[in-house]
Amino acid sequence: MKKSIYDIIAQEEYFKADMIRLLGVHGSHDIETLRCAAEKTLFDNCGKRVFFRGLIEFSNHCICDCNYCGIRKSNAAVRRYVLKKKEVVDSALFCAKQGYGSIVLQSGEREDDAFVTYVEDVVKTIKRETVSSVLPDGIGITLCVGEQTRETYERFFAAGAHRYLLRIESSTPRLFEFIHPKTQKLQSRIECLRTLKNIGFQVGTGVMIGLPTQTLEELAEDVLFFKDMDVDMIGMGPYIVHTETPMALHKDETAARHDEILQLSLNMIAVTRLVLKNVNIASTTALQAMDATGREKGLLFGANVIMPQSTPTDVRNDYLLYEGKPCLDENALQCKNCIERRITSIGREPGYNSWGDSLHFSNCI
Ligand code: 5AD
Repeated sequence: MKKSIYDIIAQEEYFKADMIRLLGVHGSHDIETLRCAAEKTLFDNCGKRVFFRGLIEFSNHCICDCNYCGIRKSNAAVRRYVLKKKEVVDSALFCAKQGYGSIVLQSGEREDDAFVTYVEDVVKTIKRETVSSVLPDGIGITLCVGEQTRETYERFFAAGAHRYLLRIESSTPRLFEFIHPKTQKLQSRIECLRTLKNIGFQVGTGVMIGLPTQTLEELAEDVLFFKDMDVDMIGMGPYIVHTETPMALHKDETAARHDEILQLSLNMIAVTRLVLKNVNIASTTALQAMDATGREKGLLFGANVIMPQSTPTDVRNDYLLYEGKPCLDENALQCKNCIERRITSIGREPGYNSWGDSLHFSNCI
């Protein structure tokens, strides 16, 4: 006889077949059962606080040509920019003033010396300038600037970044190859994740959910990959079409699956919480692009990190990884007020002035 959702959730350990069942739950009763279990696991392991990572997208130059991404190098329609060092530092200072204990510095991928030196310098300056009585070690910095050499990662770590987010996008070779050009290798990304961990970063990864041809089994394998890699943080969200990309070929079928992909993304957050327990999971902006209350939903399904848009407004429109990106015309202060309302409206507490490190990491050292 088929196990019920209750029986599966009550188990100590989840097998791949169980994860596939949970990922596919539909119908309001089963969905609510899954959601409650994920929320309980979150509260038991991490508490009710939601931590902030002010998101600063400091450049959209990119040497990669990912088939899904709007800022891929072949998209000639993109106006390319690099923020001045002062603009990035000012955005970081603004985040610190808002009480965001951490920031994410994100950009397209580059590996030239000028870029590495720029990032290193920006990180050092931000660390120095954000030291205060509430943040005695400065603001927490997560970097998200792609695949780099060990030497570069070491320089970034020495400069003061202590977390690194590198999404695997899909951990299954077939799907990874389908969404990337041949020059980009799954194995190389896995190696980068290992190197980052070895250097001492808190390491995050994640995948896109609802990719054309992606199966529930592949998503279950992604969760097992997170577990095997023993990562500290997860950032994942729904795949959303960008018209100027090769994968826009599948535009209509992706649009037709809107509600299903949104639910699948929430189920994926819940299953990841149930399996990984004490990691930090972000409720990503892409969720909100799909649904006006998508980020609250992500929190309700087990996420505990939120990333307020803190990129200067004049370039936000140029950092379009996908279409329908929210908060494009709101200033950073409006963003803060709106997010705080959203957090308290669902009975959670804003974790101001705290790095909000992953307990998974703290418990391991
Ligand atoms: N839809 C959803 N997420 C996307 N990303 C890039 N392009 C898209 C898209 N079209 C995500 C990738 C990347 C992160 C910065 O943004 O997962 O790692």
